[in-house]
Amino acid sequence: MSQTLGTNATLYQPSKGVSRAPFPYTPRVTDETSRDPERIRAMFGGIARRYDLLNRVLSLGLDRSWRRAAAREACVGSPIRVLDLCGGTGDLTLALLRDRGAPRQVVCCDFSQPMLLKAAVKLHRHDRSGRHAVVLGDALRLPFADGAFDALTVAFGIRNLHDMTVGFGEMRRVIAPGGRLVVLEFSRPTGPVLSRAYGVYLRSVVPRLGDRASGREGPYRYLARTIAGFPEPDRIAGLLREAGFGGVGWRALSGGIVCLHTALR
Ligand SMILES: C[S@@+](CC[C@H](N)C(=O)[O-])C[C@H]1O[C@@H](n2cnc3c(N)ncnc32)[C@H](O)[C@@H]1O
Repeated sequence: MSQTLGTNATLYQPSKGVSRAPFPYTPRVTDETSRDPERIRAMFGGIARRYDLLNRVLSLGLDRSWRRAAAREACVGSPIRVLDLCGGTGDLTLALLRDRGAPRQVVCCDFSQPMLLKAAVKLHRHDRSGRHAVVLGDALRLPFADGAFDALTVAFGIRNLHDMTVGFGEMRRVIAPGGRLVVLEFSRPTGPVLSRAYGVYLRSVVPRLGDRASGREGPYRYLARTIAGFPEPDRIAGLLREAGFGGVGWRALSGGIVCLHTALR
């Protein structure tokens, strides 16, 4: 199912048997598609300053509604402690704190200090109730006890993990039995028209606009290539089952541009 690239990167193949329109952007396998952790950490550190603005612009403002949908899913069953893993600048943490079934504590964890600093400032500004915490930590070696959380969210994070299987194993370890996992990740539209338009957008607009606006060469080319080369939702669901999760399901949002995966520990 997966194709190994050099020493430390894996590009997953789309799962077979899924009926989809052909996606008109096949990324070349290059070094920049690699998920080398140090490279990823440095890359996010370099774009932290403009990250929120580019999210808004490149998603045409849809990113907030995607995170709200993820927060709603995670808050089903009124969890008390929630971990927002790969939390970046804290937008999903904030959506969790604002949800109707808001948890008593939300921990935003990320391995990039500049991203987490942005999160700390933002969360302090919007949540004076002291229900949040920010923690520097690696998703592949989480600094939390077994079963420490009632629910765990990851938005646009699993695509960057050096080893998704190890990542899912760690997520399962820190979720209490019966707790929920909610994963929000980019996907590819299923309809032929949107699929074609999105392929062109990914190939031509995202890398140029993103890299220019972030003042960095490469991060948004990486974004486009990892979205186009990412496994189909069914394959992610399979990896979650292999990691020991039950009740695995997913649904497409915005015509399949993103996918919301849910699973139970
Ligand atoms: C695309 S951003 C998503 C941030 C945020 N969840 C959001 O919705 O905007 C991916 C984040 O994952 C973090 N990340 C990537 N690999 C990680 C790892 N192994 N451990 C912890 N954080 C990681 C990056 O530092 C970055 O902040």
